[in-house]
Formats: sequence, C-alpha cells, structure tokens
Amino acid sequence: MLTGISACVFDAYGTLLDVRSATGHLAGELGDKADQVGAVWRTRQLEYTWLLSLMGEHRDFWQVTGDALDYALDAAGIQDEGLKHRLMERYLSLDCYPDVAPVLTDLRRAGLRTAILSNGTPGMLAAGVASAGIADDLDAVLSVEEVGIYKPHPSVYQLACDRLGLAREQICFVSSNGWDVAGAAYFGFRTVWLNRLGQTGDRLPGTPKLVMRGLESLPGLVARRNT
Ligand code: LAC
Repeated sequence: MLTGISACVFDAYGTLLDVRSATGHLAGELGDKADQVGAVWRTRQLEYTWLLSLMGEHRDFWQVTGDALDYALDAAGIQDEGLKHRLMERYLSLDCYPDVAPVLTDLRRAGLRTAILSNGTPGMLAAGVASAGIADDLDAVLSVEEVGIYKPHPSVYQLACDRLGLAREQICFVSSNGWDVAGAAYFGFRTVWLNRLGQTGDRLPGTPKLVMRGLESLPGLVARRNT
C-alpha cells in the first residue's frame, strides 16, 4: 500500500495506449512483417530518444517516431510512403487499454489527481487522449517538450512536481516501461511497474514499489492518508 499520495502520474505509450495496435490494425498491409516492423519501430523510437538526449540534440517525438518508422520499414525491405503515412496516422489514435478509463475514474473519486507525463508531443498526446476518450479523467497532460529532453532525464520528472505543485514522494508514477520506472524511482517518485507484457525486471538504479500486470488493483493500493 502506498500512502501519502496526492497524484497518480502515468506514462502514455505502452502504459495507457497500446503501441502495438498501430501495426496490428495495418497487419493486412504489412503481412508477415507486421510483428517485426512493430518491434523494431518501438525499439528504435526509444533508442533515438536516449541517443538524442546524450548527444545534446532534441527532435520532437513525432519526428523521432517517423524516423524510427523509416528505419523499421527500410530494415524490413518495405518502400511504401502511403503505408508509412497510414501507420503514423494510426499512432494518433492508438487503442487504449480497457482498464484505463475505469481506474482513472476510481482514483479521482478517491480524491487523487491524475496526469500523463510522456515523451509525446502535446499534439500527439491531445490526439491520443481524445481518441481514447479519457480527456475528462485527467487533471494534466504533460509533455517533455516543455523541458526539451527525454525521459529518463530528471528534469522530465521534475516537470510533474512543478506543474502539480507536489513533492516527489507525493507522486505515484506508473509506467509499463521498466527503464522509465527506474528513472522515476531514482528521481524519488513512488513507482508502480505495470508489467503488461510479462517482461524481465531491469537491472538499473531505482526499483519499483509495486509491480502489477494490469491497472485494476491500483486504486486499492494508493491512498492520500497515512492511516
Ligand atoms: C512515453 C514513452 C516512454 O509515453 O512511452 O513517455
């Protein structure tokens, strides 16, 4: 049980929104390359965010997502600008995991604030939240574009403290990305690793306080009061 929590802050991609749904919906066009393109696209997308941040260079997440998709399609031997366009459009309306909306409602009913803190651009996040129908369940949607560097840089996590007016330990941060949980825990958030895909735990500084496979049990495990 995590007590003394004032807000639950969620990662977006992979946590609330199913990143695999973009290639999944276009599997008819991608054929037997769908899984490969989906996996390489996501891996390169994340690697590019880390590498750009190390280089001291910033390109926004829409550009990074497009560059990573170019790489993934090229690696799969696919040259099809129309398909690339359709996959990028799909990234603006990813499937929302079914446990998300009820849990956001329950958390707010319990007096907690809810927010997204994501690498996504404000435009990508607004589209994703609208498509998922969860805009009214969120108190804030925060993008790394405000700080110009990607997770897991501490200034990204600090943005949530600043914008919500909370100390680190008052924030419960939830992500399906193990490296994001590590960064957030190392920063000082209380963290939940939402291990949706049954992955192996990362060996990094910063360990999650709770690990769960779905969001359903979250509202029963976080509370404002210490008693
Ligand atoms: C995000 C990526 C890490 O939403 O999934 O920030």
